[in-house]
Amino acid sequence: MNLGLKDRVALVAASSQGIGRATAEAFAAEGCRVAMCARNQQTLQAAADKIRKQYGVDVLAEAFDVTDAGAVSRFVAATAQKFGSVDICVTNAGGPPAKGFLAASLDEWQRALDLNFLSTVYFAREVIPHMQRKQWGRIITLTSITTKQPVTDLVLSNAVRAAVVGLVKSLANEFGKDGILVNNVGPGFTATDRLKELATARASSSGKTEQEIFDSWAADAPLKRLGEPREVAETIVWLASERASYITGQTVLVDGGMYKGL
Ligand SMILES: NC(=O)c1ccc[n+]([C@@H]2O[C@H](COP(=O)([O-])OP(=O)(O)OC[C@H]3O[C@@H](n4cnc5c(N)ncnc54)[C@H](OP(=O)(O)O)[C@@H]3O)[C@@H](O)[C@H]2O)c1
Repeated sequence: MNLGLKDRVALVAASSQGIGRATAEAFAAEGCRVAMCARNQQTLQAAADKIRKQYGVDVLAEAFDVTDAGAVSRFVAATAQKFGSVDICVTNAGGPPAKGFLAASLDEWQRALDLNFLSTVYFAREVIPHMQRKQWGRIITLTSITTKQPVTDLVLSNAVRAAVVGLVKSLANEFGKDGILVNNVGPGFTATDRLKELATARASSSGKTEQEIFDSWAADAPLKRLGEPREVAETIVWLASERASYITGQTVLVDGGMYKGL
């Protein structure tokens, strides 16, 4: 299938590791020019170098925190300056800590809002004018299965990510006339460093081993295994492609069937 993405400019936030990195790689494999960011400069440069070498595409990589609105603005401007446009924007960030409601402090609520909601607003505000000029664009928010089904002890994610879905639907409604498609992708349990972090937290609160925690997550999905970052990335790339040109305002779960609803 020709995805029609060659030479598109794909900005992928929080992309030195995990699902973000796999997404940057998957766009590079389609011949996109890629803009990447993360906080740790060393890890980011190593990922960018590998992608440049492996796929022979132009990569812009800058280290900053996505909760810094000014840094997001400068990065989007630098991407447009280097590549001439920003066609695709995948918003992403680290996940909030695993907590029950009374254990989460007010600072942690503020941080979760900054990290998992406002960072999405910052990117959308900056990329939409570029997309409007071309009358073509794709914004894809990378969130979680929690946008459809709350996960125990992830109250920060369960609550804050719902706001992202409200934003996605609103942007899809407002900017569809400009050829901008806005969708949300929610991974289920996917084998990354973030998942190891959650397993450690869950193991210490439950008295189970980390392996038992991983096994229970796998058993809960009809496919009886965890997801791979590549499987989420390829869904994102397809949604950004010409092959998904009549899909907007949707949440697509990549969860091995774990979501229990209809
Ligand atoms: N893995 C799962 O099972 C799963 C399931 C559902 C939802 N999710 C969500 O999907 C997202 C990605 O998860 P993942 O598993 O790919 O995580 P990961 O493996 O921990 O990777 C996170 C990436 O984001 C970067 N990052 C984190 N905080 C950042 C910040 N403030 N500013 C800029 N970059 C930042 C990290 O680099 P630096 O540390 O250098 O900044 C790293 O490149 C998270 O929001 C997570 O909660 C994951």
